[in-house]
Amino acid sequence: MAASALDRLKKVPIFSALPPKELEWISRSMKERVYEPGAVIVKQGDPGVGFFLVADGTVEVTHDGHKLREMGAGEFFGEMALMEERVRTATVTAKTQTRCLQLVRWDFRAMLKENPDLAVRMLEVVVRRLREHPPREHD
Ligand code: CMP
Repeated sequence: MAASALDRLKKVPIFSALPPKELEWISRSMKERVYEPGAVIVKQGDPGVGFFLVADGTVEVTHDGHKLREMGAGEFFGEMALMEERVRTATVTAKTQTRCLQLVRWDFRAMLKENPDLAVRMLEVVVRRLREHPPREHD
């Protein structure tokens, strides 16, 4: 389990530059989760507990019922509520059977504090996401 999580992490660009010891620690802290099609992985408005890296499959991100985008292997979600310590900004649902690697809040925050380059790269992804699909008002 740990070895395959490590292999997956090495293939993900924002993790691949981390020192081997850090990669090993992170992969040991990650739990593999499998979701069936239609399963809600994180729900808009819920408190955030985990960060998720997609290992296999496709998920759909929706905000107030509007589709924002899909994500696949090597992409991550669930970072926003953990960075800001607030509730989930969107709902993420499995479209196909989806295998994720999950990191709990305290390990996620420790990972960012220990690895400033990773934190900056993750911030770049978050800003790009918000630029592409800014939160919008409905009704
Ligand atoms: P979080 O708010 O923890 O939970 C919902 C997740 O959906 C969020 O983290 C991001 O990973 C993702 N998400 C939220 N807004 C967007 C967006 N505009 N574009 C892409 N992904 C998003």
